[in-house]
Amino acid sequence: MKIIGTGSALPSLSVTNDMLARFLDTDDHWIQTRTGIQQRRVISKESLKELAVKATQNALDDAGLTAADLDYILCSNIANNYVTPALSCIIQGEIEATCPCLDLNGACAGFLYALDIAEAFLNSYQDKNILIVCAEEPTRFVNWNERSTSVLFGDGAGAVVVTKGTNLKALTLTTTSKVDVLYYRRLLENTPYAANAEGTEPLVMNGRDVFKLAVSSSVADIKKVMQEASITCEDVSYFLLHQANIRIIDSIREHLSQSPDKFPQNIEKYGNTSSASIPILLDELSRANKIKSKSMLVMSAFGAGFCTGACAIEWD
Ligand code: UT7
Repeated sequence: MKIIGTGSALPSLSVTNDMLARFLDTDDHWIQTRTGIQQRRVISKESLKELAVKATQNALDDAGLTAADLDYILCSNIANNYVTPALSCIIQGEIEATCPCLDLNGACAGFLYALDIAEAFLNSYQDKNILIVCAEEPTRFVNWNERSTSVLFGDGAGAVVVTKGTNLKALTLTTTSKVDVLYYRRLLENTPYAANAEGTEPLVMNGRDVFKLAVSSSVADIKKVMQEASITCEDVSYFLLHQANIRIIDSIREHLSQSPDKFPQNIEKYGNTSSASIPILLDELSRANKIKSKSMLVMSAFGAGFCTGACAIEWD
């Protein structure tokens, strides 16, 4: 595959750390030093669907395509207000596309899982153009009365259009079932046979465990894709990491003995936007003309599951 268009969209409301400190037992210094986050975009007036459609439209425009040119829509999303139909079906209707649609939930690593599925579809079928749109609203499932998770997340959507090509040099995925470290459960309807014993609870995360898993898995995944692509760190222009915590990114960078300029970030502005974080970052770099043609990009993400993935892809 090769990436032929990128797009992103973010909510208009920017919530600073000081704004959170007005109603949470937290402060700007703690959040900045522990996470690197200064502010995050939070859905207020707009909907996730609107953000997803805007990111999609931007990616289609960038690729010089229309919705009619799409052969598949893959949407990475953890949760939105529709359990069914899939968000990709809703996006399809809004942009007036007619292709098949599929949602996937690879948590924060969803973009890498979607790239893998797109690559398989491009190789197996007659598909030419596939839209991958990552649309996430984690602020709608964290506990806003509690400081440990609510300060970390932001909402947003990032999209790419991919087509046939030889630019994807290597991709690796791993899944290691570890439900307890990071989960979000919804309320089940009562039936005559099963009552709702447990109920909904906001996102639960063991931050320290996730931190360690994130660093070790990402370093291993990055080394694996570099080996499979027969490249070294020196061949890589940018490492685009899931924007979860600046200290996680720094720790991975130090394991690889690389300089900070190779690890672009936007976590300070947007917080952790889950699977949307890499495509949003990619779109920002692309629109700022910061990625030269033929540059090698290594992407790496990790999240609930525990799902992780990395890829090496040459910029077209
Ligand atoms: O997208 C993938 C999923 N998520 C992640 O990748 C997140 C991975 N984990 C992390 O980023 C970090 O573990 C956190 C940012 C969540 C937490 O940082 P930490 O350095 O691991 O802090 P901690 O959980 O060890 O807590 C240290 C202290 C605690 O107080 P005590 O027990 O030392 O008195 C916490 O209660 O910081 C306290 N604390 C806070 N203080 C102010 C926790 N959250 C806050 C807060 N403001 N928001």
